[in-house]
Amino acid sequence: MESLALYIHWPFCAAKCPYCDFNSHVRERIEQDRFRAALRRELAFEAARTGRRPLVSIFFGGGTPSLMEPETAAALIADARALFDPVPDLEITLEANPTSVEAGRLAGFRAAGVNRVSLGVQSLREEALRFLGRRHDAAQAVAALELARGLFPRLSFDLIYARPGQAEEDWRAELRAALALAADHLSLYQLTIEPGTRFATEYARGAFVLPDGDAAARLYAATAEEAARFGLLPYEVSNYARPGSESRHNLQYWRYGDYLGIGPGAHQRLSQGSALLAARRHRAPEEWLARVERDGQAITGEEALAPQDRAREALLMGLRLAEGVDPARIEARSGLALAETVDPAMLAACLEEGYLEWLPSGRLCATEEGRLRLDAVLPALLR
Ligand SMILES: C[S@@+](CC[C@H](N)C(=O)[O-])C[C@H]1O[C@@H](n2cnc3c(N)ncnc32)[C@H](O)[C@@H]1O
Ligand code: SF4
Repeated sequence: MESLALYIHWPFCAAKCPYCDFNSHVRERIEQDRFRAALRRELAFEAARTGRRPLVSIFFGGGTPSLMEPETAAALIADARALFDPVPDLEITLEANPTSVEAGRLAGFRAAGVNRVSLGVQSLREEALRFLGRRHDAAQAVAALELARGLFPRLSFDLIYARPGQAEEDWRAELRAALALAADHLSLYQLTIEPGTRFATEYARGAFVLPDGDAAARLYAATAEEAARFGLLPYEVSNYARPGSESRHNLQYWRYGDYLGIGPGAHQRLSQGSALLAARRHRAPEEWLARVERDGQAITGEEALAPQDRAREALLMGLRLAEGVDPARIEARSGLALAETVDPAMLAACLEEGYLEWLPSGRLCATEEGRLRLDAVLPALLR
């Protein structure tokens, strides 16, 4: 039986960051009780059709779930524990913004059962924090990290790099300072310009420029080098962990396991018999709420994925991982052999060019070069 991970989306933020295209909304007032009840209803709806599967992870993402009342997290965790079969070391992660983590709230989330926090630090440089439109300064970020470290057994934080004008030496110094504060996991993202964001408009009119491909590649290599000095290895394109401290939730996605996604805009992949169902939910929080209150769920579209789509997704996810992807897993999830999914000539060319390699374990994996170019390599590779 496929195990499950559970994603819960909290769609509200105190302000919208100019680079962010996540499903996040700013509202003056949020009816927490109604949202809590609706999230619980969607969870119950899904549990009724999945049955009691092993549950490996719960992840509260956003938006800014640290703005959620801790009682909401407590109720959802209790429901999930009752509705599924949680593994003994169930991972329960909450994304938190440094500005919304006053001691009381974080302690409340800990008491609710959260055992891992992922903190949106983004940078330790004041100028960069201002550029990124963040509402915290570096000192607040460090204070939040220290507070979280005292409360939670596991801690990760996010940084955004490859910022305009960022010099390699300065990034190395910033990253070293971050690594000294880090526990066992870091997410290090290169700044990307997402369509529809304020940054997309500013970038288009030349308000700032980003490091070019070569500079970004040098920053990426420097990142891995600095992280390795602290024992953190890149187990995925943007994620670094001490061996054993990888995010089990994200591994479930990348290993193409089943996951439920409840809340506005959340998506899920769920096997039912031999089918693999992909579902999405209404993105607008108020519309989502109204639908759930009326129908018990707010799915906008659900489809059984075709074998070719499943194989493609499994490969797309698996090649993000340093451990690579097992062709047997692709076949188990899609019914297709690898040769039916990828163009053999392109596969040979990618192996030859050093973008992909076969590991002794028989898994196919992207090299560091290849991981930098996944966006270009994958479309060419897939049939
Ligand atoms: C759902 S968001 C954030 C969680 C939390 N609301 C926060 O901002 O701290 C997850 C992470 O994605 C990263 N991110 C979002 N948009 C990005 C972009 N355009 N480029 C690079 N990283 C981005 C940020 O590091 C962010 O912390
Ligand atoms: S980066 Fe985080 S705080 Fe900023 S808008 Fe996106 S989800 Fe909200």
